Amino acid sequence: MSHRLFEDKAQVSAYKRHRVSPPETIIGAIMGFLESKQKEKPFTQALDVGCGSGQGTVMLAPHFLEVVGTDISPAQLEVARAECHPANVSYRECPAEELPFPDGSADLVTSMTAAHWFDWPRFLSEACRLLKPGGCLVLLSYTMDMELRYRDCSDRLNAVCAQFYEALRPYRPAHLGPCSRLLYRDMYESVPFPDKKWCDGVQQWCSMPLSRFMGIVESFTSYQLLLKRDPRAAQALSHGFQSRLLELMAVSSPDTVVDVATNYFYFMACKPAAAD
Ligand SMILES: C[S@@+](CC[C@H](N)C(=O)[O-])C[C@H]1O[C@@H](n2cnc3c(N)ncnc32)[C@H](O)[C@@H]1O
Ligand SMILES: *[C@@H]1O[C@H](CO)[C@@H](O)[C@H](O)[C@H]1NC(C)=O
Repeated sequence: MSHRLFEDKAQVSAYKRHRVSPPETIIGAIMGFLESKQKEKPFTQALDVGCGSGQGTVMLAPHFLEVVGTDISPAQLEVARAECHPANVSYRECPAEELPFPDGSADLVTSMTAAHWFDWPRFLSEACRLLKPGGCLVLLSYTMDMELRYRDCSDRLNAVCAQFYEALRPYRPAHLGPCSRLLYRDMYESVPFPDKKWCDGVQQWCSMPLSRFMGIVESFTSYQLLLKRDPRAAQALSHGFQSRLLELMAVSSPDTVVDVATNYFYFMACKPAAAD
């Protein structure tokens, strides 16, 4: 079963405004891995499946003749297409489980913070079919426990963040299990390519106004599900959270800039070259 979300305009625009792009260091590591497996250059095609509004898709453009972002949500794709993107990036509306591309056509198939919504066995078999021999499948995501840093109160802020994440836990979709890292670890184990690598602990720090951090946590699916179920409770939770953070920071404006860390993990797997 796959899961239809991100179809709601308000969630999509909140998503676009607030989410951060994946770290350039991970894109570099992916290209290094691919280059060590696949000697024939230039690389012709990369597919970014579940591309959303295309934040990660465009980061692949310098390395390929063509990059195609695919997503099931027309609302997400509308935002992606409206953004300024390189001429060799395009977008297609299609499910991850039925990708309209020929066998052996892709050098790279990525999915960034999206594969946990797919029907995994069907997506995996599509990815295996689409990849060229020596091509790579890469999935990346991050954990929900974003960290804050501000002057000398970081520990206290993070304790309040932990309570907020805990309060959202009951609204987390059941299929995601307690922790997305474990879910991805299972996906990793099930990739049938022997040549694969799990990478963890990539922390990206970003400075942003506290209001943008609030926007990010409010774009989390568990918060959005609570918001649908009980808008008042959701708003009270988020308002209370922001007030406590401001109080600890001893400031009144949500425009105050804080440092925010996102913890990424990813895996890369190379399709075996055809035996000859
Ligand atoms: C959390 S967003 C990630 C977007 C983007 N890759 C990023 O890194 O910001 C997940 C995306 O997966 C898409 N999605 C969910 N299920 C899908 C499916 N079965 N096939 C294709 N896309 C899907 C959603 O529409 C959404 O845009
Ligand atoms: C694709 O577009 C990017 C960004 O404009 C560019 O750097 C890259 O060279 C292009 N790729 C090709 C093969 O033209």
